[in-house]
Amino acid sequence: MAEVPVVGRLAKRLAVDFGSSRVRIAYPGPRSGTPPGLIDLPAIVLVDRAHNRVVAVGKEAEEVAATTVPPSLSAVRPMQRGVIAEPDAAQAMLAAMWRLSKGPMRPSVIAGVAAGANTAERLLLIGVLLGAGAGRVRLLPRPLAAGYALGLPIAGSRPKMIIDIGAGLVDVAVCALNQVIYARSFPYAGDWFDEGVVRYIRRERGEQLPRELAQRVKCELGDLAVTENQQRTFSSIRLTHHTSYMNISADEVRTALLHSVERVSEELNAIWLDLDARTRDAIIADGATLVGGSAQMKGLADHLGQSLEYALHPAPETEIATATIAGLSQVAHSPARFATALETK
Ligand SMILES: Nc1ncnc2c1ncn2[C@@H]1O[C@H](COP(=O)(O)OP(=O)(O)OP(=O)(O)O)[C@@H](O)[C@H]1O
Ligand SMILES: [Mg+2]
Repeated sequence: MAEVPVVGRLAKRLAVDFGSSRVRIAYPGPRSGTPPGLIDLPAIVLVDRAHNRVVAVGKEAEEVAATTVPPSLSAVRPMQRGVIAEPDAAQAMLAAMWRLSKGPMRPSVIAGVAAGANTAERLLLIGVLLGAGAGRVRLLPRPLAAGYALGLPIAGSRPKMIIDIGAGLVDVAVCALNQVIYARSFPYAGDWFDEGVVRYIRRERGEQLPRELAQRVKCELGDLAVTENQQRTFSSIRLTHHTSYMNISADEVRTALLHSVERVSEELNAIWLDLDARTRDAIIADGATLVGGSAQMKGLADHLGQSLEYALHPAPETEIATATIAGLSQVAHSPARFATALETK
């Protein structure tokens, strides 16, 4: 296997978090404590199917997708529900990002993987990274990476539960001794919440809300806490294929979201039944840590906590959405220190 030059190896070992909605690549600073460089792009690829050609990736692809995609092109999300659904598009996206990172030709990569991914999904991810030009790939379960970034004591023997609610996946892991000792993931995360808003509007208003607009409504108005003033309005949404405006209240958005979030409660309660008594006791005493973009939804942790045996503690606001890539970047900086956590096969 070709090794990258020493200078490149020190500065340019890459950390990669290929998510369902964002792809994040960090290239660690040369010394401990120096800030890593970060490329963070929407996980969208514009493909010319007739010529089997990638036309644009990331922001550029997203901008075209948000307007009118010409019939000859299709906007593809390479990762769906936490699994690589379009390997060629995923590979093209990564290759374009390597070029942006101006790193070595064949970077050594520490990549995040869903803790609950199966062997085939892990091998597919490794294959895509190698196909995109990585010289070497080592995987690290994403919740473990987030735990490192947050400084959780996962090197000890006491089990810690970390829950990553992203766009495509809720990834649940119990970690101890720098390992994942229990993992399960399920696909009821941010995209599922967006679909819930789309379904609600279709049922109540007879309108088909584009997914991107549903996401905006969710992020700007989504609040599961019950407060006095629920009648804030989200004004002036112009549907792309209509000239009319639609006002949606926070109350309606909460109704739509509660339906979807119910599935998350059910899954987390099913997972609870899988855990042994010692693990349960530790989690009851310490609670579980919540990370990921969707963990930013107001009132989510408290709402879910009401139906669980344990409390959910959202990570600090400044770290909640970026803990995974921050942890992967830490590990990419000094892989030897995290050797027991890294998956070599
Ligand atoms: N303020 C907010 N309230 C609710 N949801 C939010 C908020 N901000 C972002 N999100 C949601 O977070 C999700 C993106 O989270 P994240 O970046 O963790 O996903 P990802 O890593 O790309 O996906 P995954 O890990 O599931 O493959 C999107 O569904 C987005 O709508
Ligand atoms: Mg993620």
